[in-house]
Amino acid sequence: MTELVTVAVDGPIMTLSMNRPDKKNALTNAMYGVLADGLQRAQDDPAIRCIIIRSEGDSFTAGNDLSDFASISVGSGPTVRHVTRFLHGLATADKPIVAAVHGLAVGVGTTMLLHCDVVCVTEQARLVTPFVNLALVPEAASSLLLQARIGYARAFSMVALGEHVDGKTAVEWGLARYLAAPEALRAKALAIAHTLAEKPIGALRATKRLMRDSALIAQTMDRESEVFAERLKSPEAAEAFRAFAEKRAPNFVQFS
Ligand code: COA
Repeated sequence: MTELVTVAVDGPIMTLSMNRPDKKNALTNAMYGVLADGLQRAQDDPAIRCIIIRSEGDSFTAGNDLSDFASISVGSGPTVRHVTRFLHGLATADKPIVAAVHGLAVGVGTTMLLHCDVVCVTEQARLVTPFVNLALVPEAASSLLLQARIGYARAFSMVALGEHVDGKTAVEWGLARYLAAPEALRAKALAIAHTLAEKPIGALRATKRLMRDSALIAQTMDRESEVFAERLKSPEAAEAFRAFAEKRAPNFVQFS
């Protein structure tokens, strides 16, 4: 069976690759589990000095699998949600993380980038966080980190209006660091990962811990998760997921 997330270690670099291209790399609970395990292994293994996150197919990821969300909304979701472990793993990782982003990066596809240290994008990348369009709220500490990075006005437009941000704009706004041609994206990410892997890892880890307030991030994630879980079970969200499955626009004005 095809692995939906591959984990490859080559020398000091671990590469986590989302590999569900027929579904635009939408992330299922099991996929989050593999990503979370990979992050934990990288954290624990002294031989691993840098992590790359990338994807196969034409999209980075279409975000959380919406049929998983639909199951949770009717109370039949998984008992263990690995997304929490994945997000906390990202927030507490003190080894550097490099992301290579092409195509669509929806929802968590964009919010996970706020936890990566070097983000490379193609011009054709599209970062989008349509939480309100799905009757949901920001997650992965993005209610804090997104506006800290790009300001409230832009962050609100992304989260509430679902505005797309292209690769060039992402670099201008500081959501990404490097713009690369599609054929050069992976090589760029790999070169940066090798450069980081040669740095003194003790200093690098201490620097990350100083520059990222992981306690505040974890606290924000937990607060968001509570509201997110409530919203997932709302009639508004049920309508959003039904509309996606039925390939139609949602009708939210029926709710007051
Ligand atoms: N969850 C589950 N399946 C998804 C998905 C998601 N988040 N995103 C895409 N897919 C599936 C589609 O259902 C479709 O499956 P099918 O071929 O069995 O019908 C397949 O992936 C291809 O998607 P499609 O919609 O046909 O491609 P597109 O290029 O027209 O549009 C998107 C791509 C990503 C813009 C669109 O699929 C979309 O809006 N997805 C939802 C994104 C989202 O809201 N994510 C959650 C964020 S919190």
